[in-house]
Amino acid sequence: MSNISAIAIVGVPGSGKTTLAQSICNDDKVELHFEHKIIWACVSDLLSFSDILTRIIESESRGRDSSVSSLKPPHEQLLEEISGKKYLLVLDDLSTNDQFIWDSLRAQLDIGAPGSKILITTRYQNVGKVVATTDNIYKLGSLSDNDALLLFKRFAFSGGEDQEQERIGEDIVSMCENSPLILRMAANHVAQKNNWQQLRVEIWT
Ligand SMILES: Nc1ncnc2c1ncn2[C@@H]1O[C@H](COP(=O)(O)OP(=O)(O)O)[C@@H](O)[C@H]1O
Ligand SMILES: [Mg+2]
Repeated sequence: MSNISAIAIVGVPGSGKTTLAQSICNDDKVELHFEHKIIWACVSDLLSFSDILTRIIESESRGRDSSVSSLKPPHEQLLEEISGKKYLLVLDDLSTNDQFIWDSLRAQLDIGAPGSKILITTRYQNVGKVVATTDNIYKLGSLSDNDALLLFKRFAFSGGEDQEQERIGEDIVSMCENSPLILRMAANHVAQKNNWQQLRVEIWT
C-alpha cells in the first residue's frame, strides 16, 4: 500500500498554476501539516527520470542547513531526509507523460509517512492523467470577468482610477482572455503610462 498520493493542477500557460501552488505551500496550516518538509522543484523541460530526480535532490538540499554536511551521496541524503516524514513535494511545470518515468519516481519517493503528497503543475492534461487519479486533478480555468477586472485594476491603477481610466481598463480587460498572465502584463504596461490619449491610440491601432 502506497504512502504517497499525487494531485495535479492542470491549466494553460499563464493561468496561475505556479502561483496557486506557491500560495498552497505558503499556507501556515499546510506547512504544519507537512511538518515543515516541503520541497519545491521546478522541472520545466526535464524529460528524463534522472534529470527530474537530480532536480529534486538539488531542490531539497538547497532548503537544508548546509553546515550539517554529510559524506553520503546526495541521493541517499534525500532519501534520509524524507524517510518516515510526512512531506509535500511540488513538481512545478512537469511535462513528461511517460508512465514508466512517473512510476519509477513514485517508487523512489514512496518512503515517507502516510499522507505524503506530490503536487504537480502541468500545462498538459495527459500528464495530469498519468500522475493523478481523476478526483485529484484540478483544472484551472480562466478568471471570471469580475475577477479579471479586479486583478487588472489592482495592478494598473493601485485603486485610484477615474472614470476614463475605468472605461479604458474595461476595454483592455476585454482583450485579455481573462488570463492572469496577460492581465498582469497589460496592467504593468498601463501602470507605467501617464498619457491616456496615447494609450488609447496604442490599444486601438
Ligand atoms: N490569482 C492571481 N492574482 C494575481 N496575479 C496572478 C494570479 N494568478 C496568477 N497571477 C500572475 O499571472 C502570471 C502567471 O501566473 P503563473 O502562476 O506563473 O502561471 P502558470 O504557472 O500557469 O504559467 C504571474 O505573473 C502571476 O503573478
Ligand atoms: Mg508555472
